[in-house]
Amino acid sequence: MTAPGHVSVLLDQVIAALGPRAGETLVDATFGGGGYSAGLLDAADCCVLALDRDPEAVVRGRDIAARYPGRLTVVEGRFSGLGDAVSRYVAGTVDGVVFDLGVSSFQLDELERGFSFRHDGPLDMRMGGDGRSAADAVNHLTEVELADLIGRLGEERRARAVARAIVAARRAAPVARTSELAEIVRGVVRRSPDGIDPATRTFQALRLWVNDELGELEQGLVAAEAVLREGGRLVVVAFHSLEDRIVKRFLTERSGAAANPSRHMPVATSGPAPTFRVVSRKPLGPTDDEIADNPRARSARLRVAVRTDAPAWRDAA
Ligand SMILES: C[S@@+](CC[C@H](N)C(=O)[O-])C[C@H]1O[C@@H](n2cnc3c(N)ncnc32)[C@H](O)[C@@H]1O
Repeated sequence: MTAPGHVSVLLDQVIAALGPRAGETLVDATFGGGGYSAGLLDAADCCVLALDRDPEAVVRGRDIAARYPGRLTVVEGRFSGLGDAVSRYVAGTVDGVVFDLGVSSFQLDELERGFSFRHDGPLDMRMGGDGRSAADAVNHLTEVELADLIGRLGEERRARAVARAIVAARRAAPVARTSELAEIVRGVVRRSPDGIDPATRTFQALRLWVNDELGELEQGLVAAEAVLREGGRLVVVAFHSLEDRIVKRFLTERSGAAANPSRHMPVATSGPAPTFRVVSRKPLGPTDDEIADNPRARSARLRVAVRTDAPAWRDAA
């Protein structure tokens, strides 16, 4: 099922990996346009607790919830509050948790939210509407802080030049619009041969910083470990290497693979027992057809793991 405005990525694969059954409760940690939630509810007579930090997504959720009386609860919340939301709305553990990372097309297309470097809008990028905006970062961080942020979170090789150009521009007047920032970056970073806009990496860095997306992801994975029952499924769709690296590292560690890097090494016996079994070491990607239909799917990477009966590591010590 496709919600208008946002085409869900890897939808069939996500629903198959979660494998909902009648009577089960699943958590959709990134409701967005509700595509995954609706897909789960259509696939089985299950219940879904959906989270989104964006109040506009929660409002959209009310209309979708009306189509599934008593089966879909949509609440405003972040990954870091996932444990609390499950305690509040679900009695006991859950059967599956899915994260579909990043922004929705609704957020990208609404120019007032300031996520897009393709169109002009205020330099905002807050998913939840609170906290510091991208304009705050661009106008108030030091040149060194900006260079670090853009290099680390954008993997921009010209981060220092971009930071220098931003600081020079803001001496004349604060940088307030997405189009101004995009032009500043394009002035110092050349278009790569694959045609990717030079502003892409700087915008990614600012968005990750504004929303603490990587910190939220780390906390969300730990929360999912705590709320999943034995046999419960964890499904994560990541869109860039920084996100996917965190998911991969978490699953490598929690499945015990980090302790036993090679079958030629003695098996490590100390440390907490593995809390996940990884379903496939290689992440799943989109088909060529899906990329043709939905270019946003191009970089998607799906990872799946199944919860074991071991205590969550936070509680295991
Ligand atoms: C890619 S969209 C999800 C699309 C959805 N799977 C669908 O099929 O319509 C990601 C959504 O996750 C939300 N989000 C991102 N980070 C979040 C966080 N830390 N906590 C809660 N929601 C978050 C965003 O606001 C956005 O609406």
